[in-house]
Amino acid sequence: MDSGQVEVRSSKIPRHVAIIMDGNGRWAKQRNRPRFYGHRAGVEAVEEILQACTNAGVQVLTLFAFSSENWHRPSQEVQLLMDLFKSALSSRLDRLQEWNVRLRIIGDRNGLSEELRSEIAKAEALTATNKGITLVVAANYGGRWDITQAAKQVAVKVENKQMTSDSITPEVFAAHLSIADLPEPDLFIRTGGEQRVSNFLLWQLAYTEFYFTDILWPDFDKTAFAVAIETFLQRERRFGRTSDQVESFHRV
Ligand code: FPP
Repeated sequence: MDSGQVEVRSSKIPRHVAIIMDGNGRWAKQRNRPRFYGHRAGVEAVEEILQACTNAGVQVLTLFAFSSENWHRPSQEVQLLMDLFKSALSSRLDRLQEWNVRLRIIGDRNGLSEELRSEIAKAEALTATNKGITLVVAANYGGRWDITQAAKQVAVKVENKQMTSDSITPEVFAAHLSIADLPEPDLFIRTGGEQRVSNFLLWQLAYTEFYFTDILWPDFDKTAFAVAIETFLQRERRFGRTSDQVESFHRV
């Protein structure tokens, strides 16, 4: 992997970046091509941003590839997206290995085809012990689904008397969410001009810095990513404290 492209290496670099990759369809339309052409170009952007994140020292990159709501798209587009996801998983697996990437897929796997589920299991198993960046791909994922599945796990434990309702704290509850073992996102990026969360990591984004850009996802390259990181580095993260408290905390 080449280095030095993102010249923002610093200890304040976000540990976890979460991205909604929006704008593939419009990118294709601008070129008078079918929407799928944009999604294919989107996979190339994924590779570039994965590399940029690794070079910058980001530990976790989470990408929203397919939301619970994306099933409402025309069935042909849904099928093409699923096929693209499956083929990207198998064709890029060698590269993930070479780059030491640990792959995790989050979302409701029951909605995915048997073939895709097996491709996912293979890729996760093969990369499980890799020590580089963790790439989390959200597929058939929704923040509300995540909170609901966590609530069900907690309810079952209470029913089985493994815990009491009194012992449920935000921390205990959060331990049942997807990616509970990873740091929460420091930086959320959405490309494509819309400024909303669209049922992405609802719980996990509570203290995340938001960055929106009009750039369409296939055009979001390492330079655009470096601008997002620079913007993040200029933000003051207070986590509910006052500015003075944050300053004295940094002086300690
Ligand atoms: C949003 O653009 C994009 C998606 C719903 C799919 C994102 C998928 C990829 C980039 C490819 C697969 C990803 C991986 C990780 C292998 P849009 O179609 O909503 O664009 P529009 O708003 O311009 O119509």
